[in-house]
Amino acid sequence: MNTRRLGRSGLKVSELSFGSWVTYGNQVDTRAARELMAAAFDAGVNFFDNAEIYAKGDSELIMGKVLKELGWPRIRFIVSTKFYWGMRTGANDNNTLNRKYLLDAIDGSLRRLQLDFVDLVYCHRADPNTPVEETVWAMHDIIQRGKALYWGTSEWDPEEIRAAWDIADRRNLHKPVMEQPQYNLLHRKRVEQEYARLCEDIGLGLTTWSPLASGLLSGKYRKGVPPGSRGALESYAFLREGLTDPAKNAIVGKLESVAKDLGCTLAQLSLAWCLRNPHVSTVITGATRVEQIAENMKALEIVPTLTDEMLARIDRIVGSAAG
Ligand SMILES: NC(=O)c1ccc[n+]([C@@H]2O[C@H](COP(=O)([O-])OP(=O)(O)OC[C@H]3O[C@@H](n4cnc5c(N)ncnc54)[C@H](OP(=O)(O)O)[C@@H]3O)[C@@H](O)[C@H]2O)c1
Repeated sequence: MNTRRLGRSGLKVSELSFGSWVTYGNQVDTRAARELMAAAFDAGVNFFDNAEIYAKGDSELIMGKVLKELGWPRIRFIVSTKFYWGMRTGANDNNTLNRKYLLDAIDGSLRRLQLDFVDLVYCHRADPNTPVEETVWAMHDIIQRGKALYWGTSEWDPEEIRAAWDIADRRNLHKPVMEQPQYNLLHRKRVEQEYARLCEDIGLGLTTWSPLASGLLSGKYRKGVPPGSRGALESYAFLREGLTDPAKNAIVGKLESVAKDLGCTLAQLSLAWCLRNPHVSTVITGATRVEQIAENMKALEIVPTLTDEMLARIDRIVGSAAG
């Protein structure tokens, strides 16, 4: 497993990382999470992504227990969390990036994760009701207090990220070093068009999510929703329409021939395709089974086979269907 620098920071993240959204607490218990994280770590993964909101804190609790059990040296792994939605309903503890919430939220996450600090902390969405300056100061203070090492954003508009970066630059505060956007074969414009300039200008690193579009790009939804899959979860029924969309599945069907020619699976092709973008620091994968991890990690071998010619062929198949 190669590592890449997280943007212009010195932190080195494995090209493929492993996150816990949907899975931990809903499909995967502590025992299964331990197997998955051990398999990922053995394959060279050093970054494990999490968020306060995932399974309403249970995902952090599970990851905390697993880290304790596995006992890896702290220098060997990177853990993140993210804040915005909150877990309670009070005026200052949900849908906000205000100082009061952020400084409280970090303590809750550290308690659940059983860690003294997280490596990365993200503002999970932008908050139109809190001045960016207040959020920048709060993130700076979280880092100053030793509770996180780097901070960044997730799904912020490029103008919002630039504004936060400028404030931090002017006031000599810790700057946002990474953004976490969705990026896959069917959702590429934001990363490739909106963020490209920002990555060059301020050295933003991208830690991208849903590389398989929740499993759609593995091809398994072409004949309906397989039992036990993410698409079958009642609590995530909102994903089902997209997963079973006939037009999207027709594109996936056409990508099959590319995967065949490269001697790989659709999942491996889709993951490798994300990695060929140099602005991507790490592709955050998800999995419910160890076999998926084994398959997905082999995507690294496919990256060099994605020649300009092959990429042009993929572009012709995906065409303007990609968002
Ligand atoms: N910042 C944000 O707003 C945000 C949003 C979403 C996600 N994320 C992060 O990004 C991570 C990855 O996102 P994601 O889980 O949506 O990634 P994904 O790769 O698009 O989907 C992962 C899911 O696809 C299925 N899968 C994985 N490998 C497979 C394979 N080889 N063959 C068939 N099915 C396979 C599994 O679900 P089943 O086995 O259940 O079908 C797995 O849980 C999350 O865990 C989270 O850390 C961040």
